[in-house]
Amino acid sequence: MVENLNKTKGIILAAGRASRLFPITLAANKQLLAIYDKPMIYYPLSILMLSNIRDILIITRKEDLSNFKSLLGNGKQLGINISYAIQKKPKGIAESFIIGEKFISKSNCVLILGDNIFYGEGFRNKLLSARQKSNGATIFSYQVKDPERYGVVEINKDGEAKKITEKPKKPKSNLAVTGLYFYDNEVVQVAKSLKPSARGELEITDVNKIYLGKKKLYVEQFGRGFAWFDTGTPDSLLSANNFVSTIQRRQGLSIACLEEIAYKNNWISKIQLKKLTDLTSVGSYKEYLKQILYK
Ligand code: DAU
Repeated sequence: MVENLNKTKGIILAAGRASRLFPITLAANKQLLAIYDKPMIYYPLSILMLSNIRDILIITRKEDLSNFKSLLGNGKQLGINISYAIQKKPKGIAESFIIGEKFISKSNCVLILGDNIFYGEGFRNKLLSARQKSNGATIFSYQVKDPERYGVVEINKDGEAKKITEKPKKPKSNLAVTGLYFYDNEVVQVAKSLKPSARGELEITDVNKIYLGKKKLYVEQFGRGFAWFDTGTPDSLLSANNFVSTIQRRQGLSIACLEEIAYKNNWISKIQLKKLTDLTSVGSYKEYLKQILYK
């Protein structure tokens, strides 16, 4: 168990055309757009860091690679290791495990979509307990008004998964499957066994169906006090921006401040945090880092 814990690796999928956001994303990668005061990718990256994952692969498009590298580099400044890979065409979310096969090697793996934003109390414990399951897959569900936009999971009275369907026309449950997935090492072989769906993609829902068929799919439910956004449309992008700004301005606490998480995880020292703070240009983000530093 301990060995698996140390070995779990993280993938952020940040490719795709984001055509539902055109013309915003005609010449810009969606995951580099702002969510209030930070680039979108900070939010999924923070979730991996809160899961104590330090080996991270960012999958993106060739044309966006240099931008991601200038933003995050190799991650050393945050006490993590970031590597990069290219997805040539948006052939589906499950392709992540094929692209990332060498990176994953013999480890367990967490995949997070680059456009998903999570926030809520008790989240870290949920993440750490999902990580501890060394066998099978864990997905996270969230009640939504418009389940037909998502992967949808039906559960029984004991909270066990019964059925999972990608974007059903008539959903039988309002539980959307969020873009955060924990898998054992088998996921690479499972992904390789998939055939493209009718829309020509290797579907993450098909991966989850295979785990469900083996009775190895666990569903963790986020309650009503939790917030989950994807940022696929102009309205959902705006909602995520408004949410982060509202919480941060009310509490004075930052959501997904990577330097803060790295420091609190003891992955960087006070001296390193000071260096990062000094390098940050004058503005509210620098002021926040100073607060962490001199608290
Ligand atoms: O957000 C959660 C939902 O994400 C799940 O409920 C669905 O089961 C899952 O299929 C997915 O649905 P979407 O319709 O939101 O997927 P979309 O094609 O918008 O892609 C989600 C993110 O992944 C987006 O940031 C782009 C990226 N992506 C997607 C595909 C298909 C890639 O980087 N490469 C790809 O090939």
